[in-house]
Amino acid sequence: MAESRFVLVPLLSFILILSLPFMAEPAIGVNWGTLSFHRLSPTTVVDLFKQNKIQKVKLFEADPDALKALMGSGIQVMVGIPNEMLFLLSSSTQASDLWVRQNVSAYTVKGGVDIRYVAVGNEPFLSSYSGQYVSYVMPALLNLQQSLARANLANFVKLVVPCNADAYESSLPSQGAFRPELTQIMTQLVSFLNSNGSPFVVNIYPFLSLYGNSDFPQDYAFFEGTTHASYRWIKCLLQCI
Ligand SMILES: *[C@@H]1O[C@H](CO)[C@@H](O)[C@H](O)[C@H]1NC(C)=O
Repeated sequence: MAESRFVLVPLLSFILILSLPFMAEPAIGVNWGTLSFHRLSPTTVVDLFKQNKIQKVKLFEADPDALKALMGSGIQVMVGIPNEMLFLLSSSTQASDLWVRQNVSAYTVKGGVDIRYVAVGNEPFLSSYSGQYVSYVMPALLNLQQSLARANLANFVKLVVPCNADAYESSLPSQGAFRPELTQIMTQLVSFLNSNGSPFVVNIYPFLSLYGNSDFPQDYAFFEGTTHASYRWIKCLLQCI
């Protein structure tokens, strides 16, 4: 019980912070993707964040231009590591040391970037990847954690693994369980997160459920249900960890 509460608090804050851009929350976060036909210059993007009081940003990889533009902004940043890098980082401590040096330590200087999280992979357990990244996740986490410790950053920069909602399988939250083939990795992951003070992160895209099913309850999708359905969903998710 103590363990699930420990996980619950950061999870709730994270989901609320990153997934509810339209609610009057004191801290609002956005994903800054770069797959676009008309990319804005990074300084323009950071100016837009400031104008809109965006205080938290997730980058899908350590894009040097984005990170440079974020220097001195005070915006809290989650830096992502693409799934394709997991094998290398899982197999070499030298590679993880270099990754941390080039993509974290280089920016966490005075007047630099306020990097708070490193996302190790992006939804590496997605069923469409057929398990190809699963075995790299824990070794990559352990290598990166040691690299952060060697760089004296372990207390400040937390490692997370953004999970996909399809890691969870059930039509009803109250009957929830992770996909059976993920039980072992989820147990190891949660234990790692717990011992390092990191939140459990899950990417939830309520708009996809709305597009896919016209009966999907809108208040549920936008966390506005008077019955606090979203809280129940998250609690159920955590009970199966
Ligand atoms: C730092 O991150 C970038 C972007 O993901 C990557 O291309 C580069 O290889 C990383 N550096 C190291 C030393 O791994």
